[in-house]
Amino acid sequence: MRTQVGIVGAGPAGLLLSHLLAQRGIDSVLVEDRSRAYCEARQRAGVLEAGSVALLREAGLADRLDREGLEHGGIYLQFAGERRHIDFHDLTGRSVTVYAQTEVVKDLIAARLAAGGHLEFEVSGTQVAGLDTDRPVLRYTTRDGARHEVACDAIAGCDGFHGICRPSFPAGLLTVIEREYPYAWLGILADIPPSTDELIYAHHPGGFALHSLRSPVLSRLYLQVQPDEDIAAWPDERIWAELQTRFALPGWELKEGPILDKGITPMRSFVSAPMRYGRLFLAGDAAHIVPPTGAKGLNLALSDVAVLAGALAGLVRGDPRRADAYSATCLDRVWRCTHFSWWMTTMLHASPGADAMEAALQQAQLRYVTTSRAAATSLAENYTGYRPPR
Ligand code: FAD
Ligand code: PHB
Repeated sequence: MRTQVGIVGAGPAGLLLSHLLAQRGIDSVLVEDRSRAYCEARQRAGVLEAGSVALLREAGLADRLDREGLEHGGIYLQFAGERRHIDFHDLTGRSVTVYAQTEVVKDLIAARLAAGGHLEFEVSGTQVAGLDTDRPVLRYTTRDGARHEVACDAIAGCDGFHGICRPSFPAGLLTVIEREYPYAWLGILADIPPSTDELIYAHHPGGFALHSLRSPVLSRLYLQVQPDEDIAAWPDERIWAELQTRFALPGWELKEGPILDKGITPMRSFVSAPMRYGRLFLAGDAAHIVPPTGAKGLNLALSDVAVLAGALAGLVRGDPRRADAYSATCLDRVWRCTHFSWWMTTMLHASPGADAMEAALQQAQLRYVTTSRAAATSLAENYTGYRPPR
């Protein structure tokens, strides 16, 4: 088999890339080791930057997003018994949109299938080879047991943090800079209308909590827990009791409802560079991970592939300039988001064993960011999406 671009992974990065390439007249084969249903149901991100919404709109993918996405003009920061609003509209003229990653993925899969795109779900044994030649190959086995080999002009590794593409780089080529945080997030999806009009990021001595949402009738909430926490130790009553404690505010009520989904996510910052080796290009979580506190991971994955689509279009037509600049172009924004996500995370979480100085510095930072227009503008600019100048 032959295609122009082989794509590994049907997350937001791989799916959007195949769509953007098709719009440029470039064909691709996309392989995914999970089922379509699994990809469409995996609970993850919820917040799209203004630039991500514009990207999806320009790509003709925003019909449902425009109907069902919820525009949010700010967030609340809660600490020391106060809940302060950060007004993105007022500070930056921009907003974000609450629209779940599950919905982005459903829209992308539907658009690719409607356009006759070549997507293969539930493959196994994915391999990439010949990366330092101009005919790299993608190999995989389909559900019927047939082994396939596809000759490509380039391969896009959009296979997430645990994928096979990053480990396919030759030993010693990648520089990895990473940090694991001494906590994790326990996330729930609850069948109850949100108790808030905008997201609440709450600092509490017992640990961070986040109130987000999926729709006017579905809430999404998170609790800081131990990194090695066992989900079995968290029956629904314990989760609600802890959420009640961390969000408590006189005159405000957190509504409780049936929990539909729960899971624990570790927190790490991770950047591996360069994002390219020969004809293999990494995008999204395959190359970098941020802790979810800044709501950046999905947005970074989308902006990587917006750059990659142009770079690959040039490459397959004989102009390698943008492909050569791809890694540096993306890493600039990756590092901005890595810093912002680290900053939000360390400002809002209770570190086990933190001394009185660390706790007091967090309070001072929260007070500053919620009272100084300059500091609040910096948060708002980053949260709604900052693009470093080139
Ligand atoms: P993925 O979505 O991980 O997709 C990779 C795909 O590759 C998967 O479908 C996987 O099955 C497939 N794959 C892996 N290995 C193989 C293989 N060998 N062969 C074939 N296929 C393979 N980001 C935000 O921007 N805002 C938020 O609010 C936010 N909240 C989050 C909350 C949580 C709890 C979590 C866990 C993440 C959150 N993120 C958020 C991060 C965001 O979800 C990720 O950054 C995003 O999924 C990255 O997309 P991706 O396409 O790069 O990778
Ligand atoms: C979510 O809705 O899942 C979400 C929102 C904001 C974050 C992280 C996750 O910072």
